Amino acid sequence: MSGSADTQHTQAQAQQAWTAGTGTSLRGSLRVPGDKSVSHRAVMLGALAEGVTRVTGFLEGEDTRATARVFERLGVRIETPSASERIVHGVGLHGLRGIAEPLDCGNAGTGMRLLAGALAGQAFDSVLIGDASLSKRPMRRITEPLAAMGAHIDTDAGGLPPLRIRGGRALQGIEYTLPVASAQVKSALLLAGLYAQGDTVVHEPHPTRDYTERMLAAFAWPIEFSPGYARLSGGHVLRAADVAVPADFSSAAFFLVAASVVPGSELLLEAVGMNPRRTGLLSALRLMGADIVEENPRAEGGEPVADLRVRYAPLQGVEVPEALVPDMIDEFPALFVAAAVARGRTVIRGAAELRVKESDRIASMATGLRALGATIEETPDGAIIDGGALHGGEIDSHGDHRIAMSFAIAAQLASGEVRIGDVANVATSFPGFEALAAQAGMRVDAAR
Ligand code: S3P
Repeated sequence: MSGSADTQHTQAQAQQAWTAGTGTSLRGSLRVPGDKSVSHRAVMLGALAEGVTRVTGFLEGEDTRATARVFERLGVRIETPSASERIVHGVGLHGLRGIAEPLDCGNAGTGMRLLAGALAGQAFDSVLIGDASLSKRPMRRITEPLAAMGAHIDTDAGGLPPLRIRGGRALQGIEYTLPVASAQVKSALLLAGLYAQGDTVVHEPHPTRDYTERMLAAFAWPIEFSPGYARLSGGHVLRAADVAVPADFSSAAFFLVAASVVPGSELLLEAVGMNPRRTGLLSALRLMGADIVEENPRAEGGEPVADLRVRYAPLQGVEVPEALVPDMIDEFPALFVAAAVARGRTVIRGAAELRVKESDRIASMATGLRALGATIEETPDGAIIDGGALHGGEIDSHGDHRIAMSFAIAAQLASGEVRIGDVANVATSFPGFEALAAQAGMRVDAAR
């Protein structure tokens, strides 16, 4: 159905490119956009709650807008008083209205996987589709445990989207140990658990971001949780609560690396979300010798935030501790760049999940860095990177926002110009990246 539209979309996106090269040192202070994970969840819980939820600091990105659009299509009124605000008029757990047409999650794995959990408990059928990248991402990790709860979800061959979700199923709580640490899988099960008889209990092999648990508690749903564990039962009421979204650590990450590696830099990143399940990159960069100071630590909207002052410091290659991997899973593309320009060898292991993100991030980074002259060997679950000098070249970001932004940073240290193709998806998580990067001193321009 969407074949030709998708092809056109992909062609249009592939045409957008950047040229990037040596700018000045990074200076001043800036605030990156709102957290993607928190923004998705705020719209979802707001929609399923009784009452009105006001979301401030909302990420005005393609991914989170796709989630909001899905709920609008299911009958939820969502107002946009300003770009970073949403007012969600909740319809209650059973107030959504099904539609026959597919619901488009765009590029967002979080959107699709969490929605699948919530929609598995509805009285109506629904179909979730996504763009070319999302259509290649594994969904068995959610369909199998949801099926064990009594859900009925068909996929395409290989467990790939679209997800065809049958409504009217009586769900039963389960106790489930995740085979891979994944906040998306955990959250899908917890959202299905809202509709299930009895207890839904999730154990994780390593703790992952706990925004769903925290937000459910803030929306007055009884829930027990601690790192690596969550338990709730069905049959309660979600009560609307306002959500203040912190700035996204994953977006700040590009600037943490850029200011660490470009000589003479000193940059202040304001009000960055510091949930410990997100800040593994800080630990990794500090092991490498980075100079990053947390100033004015405080709580905003129930989440820890801090201003991060980052100054240039020569980096040294390290063996990245495997225990940090889940806490920095989205930051590896940026870390690959730090490693490629550090002194000595960096070894990354235990990060096979990178192969099933918006692109195969190990392959995308290894191919791209090699095109700029770096020495990097791919392994099944990571890479071995020997730091050195970079030259100019052509990069394909494979439509992956974080790959595109990482190479914009690499370009600041390359001896020649770097052309980065297929960058339109940067708008999924970081609309306005080029302008903020330019404001800080980087050179990133739309290519002609
Ligand atoms: C997310 C969880 C992570 C992360 C993604 C956002 C979330 O995915 O990579 O960007 O909001 O729950 P996994 O659950 O697949 O690790």
